[in-house]
Amino acid sequence: MKLLRIDSSARRNSVSRQLTDRFVETWKKQNPAGQVIERDLATTALPLITDEWTLAAYSDPASLTPAQRETLAVSDALVEELLAADTIVIGAPMYNLTVSAPLKAWIDQIVRVGRTVLYGSSGTEGVLKGKKVVIITSRGGAFRPGTPTAQYDHQEPYLRHILGFIGLTDITFIHAENQKPGDLAEPARAAAIEQIQLAASAASNRPVTAQDLQL
Ligand SMILES: Cc1cc2nc3c(=O)[nH]c(=O)nc-3n(C[C@H](O)[C@H](O)[C@H](O)COP(=O)(O)O)c2cc1C
Repeated sequence: MKLLRIDSSARRNSVSRQLTDRFVETWKKQNPAGQVIERDLATTALPLITDEWTLAAYSDPASLTPAQRETLAVSDALVEELLAADTIVIGAPMYNLTVSAPLKAWIDQIVRVGRTVLYGSSGTEGVLKGKKVVIITSRGGAFRPGTPTAQYDHQEPYLRHILGFIGLTDITFIHAENQKPGDLAEPARAAAIEQIQLAASAASNRPVTAQDLQL
């Protein structure tokens, strides 16, 4: 079993990082022989896509020049990491109502025609089917469905849509909301940790035990 962990907060000791830590901790206990691949987008500065990148990405792979292959090398490596993973956990801080720029840069590198999405006569087909994705968000405010601010959540709907486009449709969202300073922050984190332990257990295809919940 392989777990791919993506962190995308600019802050070292961030809430979303602490929560992806908890996910990995639980997952590892249940998969002692499992492998965790860590991709920290604060320390792996991904290039933004360029004219050269788009030309190469939309060319026939057999006709790529060595320079074009080099242009796509980072994207290829990130796509390989995704293809190899059984489970993907993403730590996603909310910045300006949506994902952080490093997470968007990662998405731009992994949504690849011919690699993660195929165009056929009946439309598009995502390649990455059958993998479990857990997205742990951290937000200063609260955007639950039914609240007056729900309409400003451009994070969960966007991630569901774009990851679904490449075949990642089995997505569990866990939101640590109200993380701005105040009384609501700690209980919200505790509730998120409970859900994380359940999600990490579910991702390992092993029944949840009482012990799992007392980490
Ligand atoms: C640049 C920036 C923009 C932010 N924008 C929002 C926002 O639009 N809505 C919100 O609820 N919180 C916002 N926040 C608060 C963060 O979502 C919150 O601090 C969260 O814990 C960040 O995740 P992290 O601790 O993993 O970095 C913002 C924080 C920063 C630094």
